[in-house]
Amino acid sequence: MTRHLITSAIPYINGIKHLGNLVGSQLPADLFARYQRARGAEVLFLCATDEHGTPAELAAAKAGKPVAEYCAEMHEIQAEIARGFALSFDHFGRSSSPQNHRLTQHFAGRLADAGLIREVSERQVYSNADGRFLPDRYIEGTCPNCGYDKARGDQCENCTKQLDPTDLINPRSAIGGSTDLEVRETKHLYLRQSALKDELDAWIDSKSDWPVLTTSIAKKWLHDGDGLQDRGITRDLDWGIPVKKGEDDWPGMEGKVFYVWFDAPIEYIACAQEWADAGKGPAPEPGADKDSVWERWWRTDRGADDVRYTQFMGKDNVPFHTLSFPATIIGSGEDWKLVDYIKSFNYLNYDGGQFSTSQGRGIFMDQALSILPADYWRWWLLSHAPESSDSEFTWENFQAAVNKDLADVLGNFVSRITKFCRSKFGEALPEGGAWGPEEEALADDLTARIRAYEGFMDAIEVRKSASALRAIWVVGNEYLQTVAPWTTFKTDPDRAAAQVRMGLNLIRLYAVLSQPFIPEASAGMLTAMNATDASWPDDVRAALQALPPGHGFTVPEVMFAKITDEQREDWQSRFAGTRG
Ligand code: MF3
Ligand code: ZN
Repeated sequence: MTRHLITSAIPYINGIKHLGNLVGSQLPADLFARYQRARGAEVLFLCATDEHGTPAELAAAKAGKPVAEYCAEMHEIQAEIARGFALSFDHFGRSSSPQNHRLTQHFAGRLADAGLIREVSERQVYSNADGRFLPDRYIEGTCPNCGYDKARGDQCENCTKQLDPTDLINPRSAIGGSTDLEVRETKHLYLRQSALKDELDAWIDSKSDWPVLTTSIAKKWLHDGDGLQDRGITRDLDWGIPVKKGEDDWPGMEGKVFYVWFDAPIEYIACAQEWADAGKGPAPEPGADKDSVWERWWRTDRGADDVRYTQFMGKDNVPFHTLSFPATIIGSGEDWKLVDYIKSFNYLNYDGGQFSTSQGRGIFMDQALSILPADYWRWWLLSHAPESSDSEFTWENFQAAVNKDLADVLGNFVSRITKFCRSKFGEALPEGGAWGPEEEALADDLTARIRAYEGFMDAIEVRKSASALRAIWVVGNEYLQTVAPWTTFKTDPDRAAAQVRMGLNLIRLYAVLSQPFIPEASAGMLTAMNATDASWPDDVRAALQALPPGHGFTVPEVMFAKITDEQREDWQSRFAGTRG
């Protein structure tokens, strides 16, 4: 059985994420983790907060708090919201952890020893008005590649090109807008990605099964223009991981920290260490040391060679995960696990525009949970995941999908059959009757559909998985509609009993199949069905008879309330403006 290491891009600490962030990384990663666990695989699912860099410093300053305190608080808030969305991380770590400090310094030391780091005396933008060096992303200007006029000094949001601030045309400070900028000398470390270009190129070429979105972005940065550029990996900031060569000081680098994009992906590894150090993993094998617990996920020389590692992220993160982080891993010369599959996503738009954190536009995770339970959002977001192109959230579409798929199809099915059984047979599966041709045909149909659903889930085809699951729900409705136990009952109660047993078993089966998408509703269905066995239906015929005659159940509360037009209009206007 494959072991699955699964990571979601780690969200920045500064502020609560919007639904576009959620659907591009944490949520599909959770879907896959839940599915693989349900299939019986051993899973380690990790996420963390990305706590370094200027955005954290500035957000803390704005909140009037020391940055360490701000990050600790925001981490708890993000962790709480993640629980609210039922994100099933095995550990939600912090890139500011002592483990990540040590590991980041370790990698820098290895890279330096391998001759892959060069010291560069650099001219850096200093803002006289702000009295500080301006980090890349706090310089704005026009993108030299596409002409977008709000490009940041690290990357253009519009064309995804990675930039250096001095590339920008008409640069200005993003803090105060000042153009009184000057360039001063300072020394920085560069990772010689260019020296690893051929190795990275061959590695990307070997990934013929990756989504085109992922490989096309990687190829673009490998081959366009001057090809893969060396990247600065240090910054003049107070907050971050101090620049060291392993455990040793790095002469000339005093007072500098590593660039946030250098240490953040290393947190994927450090997070496994945090997980093990917190005692969340299994006990070490007899005779093995405590590090073996996380190393068997991350070190191919310590048992991780049979791990399948899948990463989830939005498209703007792809260059860092296909090139920069692999350069760190490969360059270290150590036996670290490289990613096996990168699932990347396009953007989700909001009601005719973009979701925007800086402008507070769209729906943020805490707001979403304040108006509806997580499953409503999970279902809509996953069934509309921006896989092959950008997709758009509109309140009309959300209302229609929730009301139809969740309330009319799934919810109504559950309520109809449980209530009918209660009224005619009582709250236990009725005795009598046997499967007829309709049940045999249904079992065949469901078997084929479930195998197809598994295929899409294994391939992380999120939308296709959602469609396949919805179709499985629909088939149950059609079955009930066709056999109509409420009619059969009048002439042939035994036959009706067999039909009702099928209906109630379908509820249990749907709970098992739907759990990765809508875990809370699924748990409610299992509880109502009094089901102790939630194992995956490898044998669909057996699964359709798992609940035997005489097995007690209860009629669940309304599972999904329909969204009314008034609610929709109210939310539409409440979330139209800027977040306060
Ligand atoms: N914080 C980044 C973002 O939200 C993602 C970092 S992913 C990691 O875009 F690889 F650096 F961990
Ligand atoms: Zn651009």
